[in-house]
Amino acid sequence: MIMIAPSLLSADFAALGAETAEAEASGADWIHVDVMDGHFVPNITLGPPIVKAVSAHTTLPLDVHLMIEAPERYIADFAAAGAGVITVHAEACVHLHRVVHQIKELGLLAGVALNPGTPAAVVREVLEDLDMVLVMTVNPGFGGQAFIPGMVRKIAEIRGWANDVNPQLRIEVDGGISAETAPLVAAAGADVLVAGNAVFGRKDRAGAISEIREAAQR
Ligand code: DX5
Ligand code: ZN
Repeated sequence: MIMIAPSLLSADFAALGAETAEAEASGADWIHVDVMDGHFVPNITLGPPIVKAVSAHTTLPLDVHLMIEAPERYIADFAAAGAGVITVHAEACVHLHRVVHQIKELGLLAGVALNPGTPAAVVREVLEDLDMVLVMTVNPGFGGQAFIPGMVRKIAEIRGWANDVNPQLRIEVDGGISAETAPLVAAAGADVLVAGNAVFGRKDRAGAISEIREAAQR
């Protein structure tokens, strides 16, 4: 089952409530929320108060992607703000196994993200503990960047391992996902597709979401 998670990074930040509600009405499965701290990535976005405000405008799970250093400091705050899924970057965690369990103990789904330059092997030892791996298909920090085709092999590698140890594992992709790139990542084993520009860059959000979903299921 392919899930589509529109990224609010490409939405109108002055109208996040309405943008979120429209994404839900347009067929989104999750709402992807990009948190950036200006240290782990060269951009700054939003924190728990905004997540809390957004959560009042949707019944969908909020898929919170933490692009921040030492994310263990803020996991409880994002959980209290209404996150349903929390994904941390492997590169930002000295004690990755501990952070994953910190998320799960709060009753949330736990994900680990990998930058394009980070090998899949970094998640191998925690694969059984995870609900999701997020394979970044651009270098994180900004919306609207070009998809990196070499990441398809990384998705397939992780799906191969997961088939043995954790068949329920979700593999999410983020960056440059559109109706053109969706078939490539879905064929490799990705089943949660984040899309920023491809959804919020279009007036017809429902059309955009269903085109990506159909392309992925083809
Ligand atoms: C990038 C963010 C993405 C971003 C994707 O650092 O993690 O979620 O919004 O945007 P698009 O789909 O436009 O590449
Ligand atoms: Zn993201």
